[in-house]
Amino acid sequence: MQIFRPGADSVIRVALCAAAIVPFIAAGLAYAISSSPYMTQQNITRNQPVPFSHEHHVGGLGLDCRYCHTSVEKARFAGLPPTETCMTCHSQIWTNAEMLAPVRTSLAENRPIRWNRVHNLPAYVYFDHSVHIAKGVGCSTCHGAVEQMKLTRQVAPLTMGWCLDCHRDPRPALRPREAVFDQSWQFPPNQEDEGNRLLQAYNIHPEHLTDCSVCHR
Ligand code: HEC
Ligand code: HEC
Ligand code: HEC
Ligand code: HEC
Ligand code: HEC
Repeated sequence: MQIFRPGADSVIRVALCAAAIVPFIAAGLAYAISSSPYMTQQNITRNQPVPFSHEHHVGGLGLDCRYCHTSVEKARFAGLPPTETCMTCHSQIWTNAEMLAPVRTSLAENRPIRWNRVHNLPAYVYFDHSVHIAKGVGCSTCHGAVEQMKLTRQVAPLTMGWCLDCHRDPRPALRPREAVFDQSWQFPPNQEDEGNRLLQAYNIHPEHLTDCSVCHR
């Protein structure tokens, strides 16, 4: 007597195979989603109270990053400029522009402009601008072509894997300190030698840079 109909065997085989594979597909999918630009918030422009353009102020007027992000060499945070910095120019140019009304109100009421954050690491991650600047990692390596942005966006994924990739071997990303703020600086064809040289010159020791306690304190 036949209990299973013919073909049942292959049905079970397919089912077993599927049961074995599905978790891997699901895990792969979850990973793909979590590291996708959508989840990492890459390349999204935020609405800002004033449509401040780095393209105009950096690309066009040629202002140095430190003119506005004054603490980037000295502190963990780069800092955002106070309204007075904008007003050194805008009390004279574009004084009536509707676009700049929030800047004037901010000055009149002595209340800082509330910019919406573009980059935002979780609180359990420790990051410090000053170390990176001192060791020759340029703004454009992490923030991209800011001088071409009408509204600021996040270019790098800012995931742990992204930090670690560089911490394992920072040599391809190192440049002379003088060039850190230079958005048009290009890596030379002999970056391999240059990277080795700068690693020594700046006394960088990658062997400890991937320790958990470097970024989770
Ligand atoms: C005239 C002032 C000014 C100059 C010069 C300037 N910035 Fe900014 N920057 C701002 C203001 C205002 C904001 C906040 C609004 C925004 O996000 O666009 C900002 C935001 C940023 C942000 C995003 C901050 C966040 O919320 O995560 C980055 C990154 C940045 N600037 C990088 C640079 C770099 C790199 C340079 C030099 C190449 C530079 N900026 C020069 C005024 C300036
Ligand atoms: C090694 C990568 C790296 C380099 C180099 C770097 N930044 Fe950043 N920057 C970040 C990260 C990561 C954040 C987000 C920090 C957070 O959320 O706490 C950030 C945030 C900022 C912000 C937002 C305000 C703040 O301080 O958190 C500004 C402005 C900024 N960077 C400007 C600059 C400028 C100007 C330079 C070059 C002088 C620079 N950055 C170089 C990675 C970098
Ligand atoms: C060194 C002088 C200077 C400083 C400092 C400055 N601006 Fe400007 N800004 C200008 C000039 C010049 C223009 C006109 C640009 C053009 O049309 O080419 C301008 C234009 C603008 C515009 C019009 C939109 C655009 O980009 O064309 C806005 C908005 C603006 N600035 C906001 C700000 C804010 C906010 C700050 C402070 C964080 C600031 N500016 C600091 C000189 C300056
Ligand atoms: C493009 C390369 C690069 C990227 C990306 C990068 N770093 Fe770094 N980081 C460095 C270099 C180079 C040093 C200096 C190491 C030294 O002084 O020996 C450093 C140093 C540090 C230090 C100080 C280490 C110490 O012991 O003093 C911290 C904290 C840090 N990085 C956190 C981060 C975090 C968090 C991220 C990601 C959000 C990140 N870094 C992304 C290159 C990078
Ligand atoms: C160079 C900096 C850096 C180092 C070193 C580092 N982390 Fe992280 N870690 C990060 C950043 C940045 C994030 C946030 C990533 C994100 O939001 O995608 C993170 C997130 C995490 C998370 C949360 C994961 C999640 O998906 O939410 C855990 C857990 C973690 N790290 C554990 C560790 C352990 C364990 C080590 C040591 C083996 C380590 N990290 C070393 C930068 C670092």
